Amino acid sequence: MIPHSRPTIDEHDVTTVSNTLRTGNIAQGRVVEKFEHALADYIGLKGGVATSSGTAALHLAFLALGITKNDIVAIPGYVCTAVLNAVNYVGATPLLIDIDPDTFNLDATDLRRKQNPQVKAVVVPHIFGLAANMEEITKLGIPVIEDCAQSIGATYKKKKVGSFSKISIFSFYATKIMTTGEGGMVASNSAALMKKARDLRDYDNQPDYHVRYNYKMTDIQAALGISQLRRLPHFIKTRREIANKYHRELKDLCVLPANYGEDWGHIYYRYVIKLRHGLKSFLKLSKEKGINCERPVFKPLHRYLSTPNLPNTDSVWEQAASIPIYPTLTEKNTDSIIQCVKQAIWDLR
Ligand SMILES: Cc1ncc(COP(=O)(O)O)c(C=O)c1O
Repeated sequence: MIPHSRPTIDEHDVTTVSNTLRTGNIAQGRVVEKFEHALADYIGLKGGVATSSGTAALHLAFLALGITKNDIVAIPGYVCTAVLNAVNYVGATPLLIDIDPDTFNLDATDLRRKQNPQVKAVVVPHIFGLAANMEEITKLGIPVIEDCAQSIGATYKKKKVGSFSKISIFSFYATKIMTTGEGGMVASNSAALMKKARDLRDYDNQPDYHVRYNYKMTDIQAALGISQLRRLPHFIKTRREIANKYHRELKDLCVLPANYGEDWGHIYYRYVIKLRHGLKSFLKLSKEKGINCERPVFKPLHRYLSTPNLPNTDSVWEQAASIPIYPTLTEKNTDSIIQCVKQAIWDLR
């Protein structure tokens, strides 16, 4: 079976992690600091605070912005529950926003329609590796947290995602674009926001008491992060090459990922196609043929919360399939994936 996603680990990663283990300094230390600088430099920001996960990074971002239980936080309905969890960690109320059915990103028009004075922030994931429409979203004047968990290295007009808002977050979970096993980062140009996030991440050796967390990354993870970050441009290049091959081969059979040309630097964290009918059968058939295709979002958030329908989210969820795309796929693998997808679509006609 060709897995839906896999990390890309090489001998350099293994050596770097082993060398860190040999130093005996394996909790949060100098290597974490180095990783924070390297990542912030890569995005073009002044600072970063590494965390134990992307969810922890989101939680710290909310706390740094002062979001509390009387506030509302807008989030898209088509995203994993990690985002909803972080809103609930601070006791705020989630406001679910519909998506643009072509890009799968948060729809600025729906956000404008639902905007009210209690909305203190909006989380904008650049979903599946494609930048959201930040020009439209930032016009609304709501503080934005860019969620780059799926999109490190993606660009809009040559500017990297994560640099369009006051604060942004990243995830380095095993199957993300680059990994530290588990891990995350909050990043910003604001020294004050970074100071707050840093203070809350670690409970030890503090002069005063207030609730703090243990959201630290270890030097072992950071060593892997530094090694992976060096190869990130190569990971992105390979993903784009595979995406181009899929575009060529599948263009007449299904709706391909949105492509708006030069300005939008998609990094293809996911290659998501839309089928006009038969999604469940397609997923079953592809598994039977040895390719693990999945729904890219397990379940829309309004279906967990029983809140009003989000029509675009629902229609995308009924049609969207994510087919394997990652740098370790061989030419033979991608040929088999294309063959399998074509066959499954033909079988369903
Ligand atoms: C858009 C988005 N935000 C946040 C997260 C949470 O990241 P983590 O799994 O590192 O906690 C994820 C994880 O998949 C994600 O896809």
